[in-house]
Amino acid sequence: MDVFECIQGRRSVRAYGKESVPVEKIVQIIDAGLDAPSAGNTQPWEFIIVSDKKVKEEVYNVSLQQEHIKKASTLIVVLANKKRFSSKYGDRGRELYCIQDTAACTENMLLAAHALGLGACWVGAFDELRLKGVLGITDDDIKPVVILTIGETVPYEIPENPGRIAMDKITWAERYGEKPKWILPYQRKHRLSYEPLDQTLIKAKEKIDEKISQASEKEASKASETEKKGTEKPKKKGFLDFFRKLTR
Ligand SMILES: Cc1cc2nc3c(=O)[nH]c(=O)nc-3n(C[C@H](O)[C@H](O)[C@H](O)COP(=O)(O)O)c2cc1C
Repeated sequence: MDVFECIQGRRSVRAYGKESVPVEKIVQIIDAGLDAPSAGNTQPWEFIIVSDKKVKEEVYNVSLQQEHIKKASTLIVVLANKKRFSSKYGDRGRELYCIQDTAACTENMLLAAHALGLGACWVGAFDELRLKGVLGITDDDIKPVVILTIGETVPYEIPENPGRIAMDKITWAERYGEKPKWILPYQRKHRLSYEPLDQTLIKAKEKIDEKISQASEKEASKASETEKKGTEKPKKKGFLDFFRKLTR
């Protein structure tokens, strides 16, 4: 699997098989996390590996009771140790870099899990203080950033790509808001058409409505002209009536 295949094939997997993930794979995943970049190579990350059923249940209870937390074989809780930043980068390091670094570390771990054929999901929705309580973290400078759920994959439980906003809608050239036209021919095809389905349908209906109203206006002006000339013909049911019926 090359890096693009790995990036494109990774999904947030929330259903797992019953088998436990072997510890050597967990070690390999964390090792991939350690290779992430960090500001000034400060490496603020620390990890708590949770595999005990009772602890998982407690984590589940402080994380909106998301089922995949309970069902995962292993949780890796990624922590940011803000102390490592204090002297070097001040507030920007403590509040921003440590989050960016742990996020980069987490993405590395997600990709590694995928490359190892495992399913994993980034969980950010949890009550931070209660999670610290569950995990016995008393230090104010240790911040839980992510809970990574990891388990064996079940082939038919791997979700579809939920879609991405097309690159040309969010990428600018030189100044914000200026479109780089050259992106269009190069961006991946499936991104070109991505919009949540209901939005696509709403837009399609708006377009049809607009066409109908334009055609109706044309028809009305034609009718008034023929009326003026006194040569009115019987109305034919056609394409327009079909669309009117369809969008009613
Ligand atoms: C910061 C962050 C927080 C997230 N929190 C949760 C979460 O609490 N629960 C969950 O099931 N997925 C969570 N996710 C996963 C996203 O829902 C998922 O990445 C997104 O829907 C895109 O799907 P994909 O990862 O399959 O491409 C989170 C992802 C990120 C980056």
